[in-house]
Amino acid sequence: MKVLVVGSGGREHALCWAIAASPLCDRLWCAPGNAGIARDAECVAIAADDVEALVAFAREQAVDLVVVGPEQPLVLGLVDRLEEAGIRAFGPSAAAAALEGSKGFLKDLCARHGSPTARYRRFSDAAEARAYVRQQGAPIVVKADGLAAGKGVVVAATVEEAEQAIDAALVEGSFGSAGAEVVVEEFLSGPEVSFFALVDGKTALPLATAQDHKRAYDNDEGPNTGGMGAFSPSPLVDEDLQRQVMDEIVLPTVRAMEQEGRPFRGVLYAGLILTAEGPKLLEYNVRFGDPECQVLMMRLKSDLLTTLIACTDGSLDSLTLRWRDDKAVVVVMAAKGYPGAYRKGTPIRGLDEAAGEGVVIFHAGTTSGPDGGILANGGRVLGVAAHGSTIVEARRRAYDAVDRIDWPDGFCRRDIAIRAAEAGR
Ligand code: AMP
Ligand code: GLY
Repeated sequence: MKVLVVGSGGREHALCWAIAASPLCDRLWCAPGNAGIARDAECVAIAADDVEALVAFAREQAVDLVVVGPEQPLVLGLVDRLEEAGIRAFGPSAAAAALEGSKGFLKDLCARHGSPTARYRRFSDAAEARAYVRQQGAPIVVKADGLAAGKGVVVAATVEEAEQAIDAALVEGSFGSAGAEVVVEEFLSGPEVSFFALVDGKTALPLATAQDHKRAYDNDEGPNTGGMGAFSPSPLVDEDLQRQVMDEIVLPTVRAMEQEGRPFRGVLYAGLILTAEGPKLLEYNVRFGDPECQVLMMRLKSDLLTTLIACTDGSLDSLTLRWRDDKAVVVVMAAKGYPGAYRKGTPIRGLDEAAGEGVVIFHAGTTSGPDGGILANGGRVLGVAAHGSTIVEARRRAYDAVDRIDWPDGFCRRDIAIRAAEAGR
């Protein structure tokens, strides 16, 4: 089979790494890819959101399957355009990607179908939104409706902060059209878990759970990031809770999307908060998480390509997934300054010597220098992933590898998965 993966981050490196290992894969491209991905796939210089150029490439090369990593091309309708061109694609249509692309759409869907989520109201008028916030009081959460590169959510500790967030979106237009509407919702408290399921339109298969570390620095301090590390599985989700999440959240969504004429195909990533009243849905993403994908791929034993094809062909009901009886941890190494301003082009050495037993170093933002060396080329630059029989072992392997990487301009958190490790999971 000829396969094209779309994207250039650590998630796409993990997908390429797993697909390249499939006996079904004859040729693998990644658009645009990065220096690490180039070891597993042929990189093609097409941007991940250049829908027309991606469709043209897939057609020219007679690609058998396109796997779309990030959300933007999904929301832009890449999968619709590929299917129109007769090319099989893994990921939701634009209509189904609205689960991530519009928070208001998601909240209304949950309300129509009784899925547990925070109470909310939608607003496009700032004065009305401010009045609602004053009436509700703080803490309260303000979310830009559309895709805002992870910056559209403000968990406001005070009414003033919530009003500022409303003004930023609705008056100042800080998020452009993505912030032309906001969702104001109830603040929920509890631990957060990422829950992944594969969906083929009708059937949903639970994939695995993970926990992400979103803040830049140790002890969950500092600004929010795309994710500084993750581990899988989450010790907070046992079989009963998994069944409850499938029955109360994932399956009702799959049925609702089918009933409403926008069947969902692809990975459904539910951001859950485990409240005293039970699990509630914070958000859906319509793609694998980054860096969560890296730990899922470290644990998946089944052939990924076969799995993705079952999903696109509507035959998930006949599939059983196999997992390693192992835990996995990924530590993200980022450029100093991330998620603020950072330098590009700083050299990274020692990668080949760094990886030890059970370790894979995924590249997230790298490029090749003139002498063939690896240079940093983004905010999140590497994902050092390891599996082990316990979280303690997986952590030790990942951090041993981190410590062997020679990159003075990078940093990482030292406490990824530490609480799960201390709890002996
Ligand atoms: P989202 O993009 O909707 O997942 O929001 C980003 C982050 O904001 C989540 O991971 C939570 O930490 C936080 N958050 C979102 N909604 C709520 C809520 N209703 N209550 C408390 N925290 C929230
Ligand atoms: N790690 C969070 C995300 O992929 O959205």
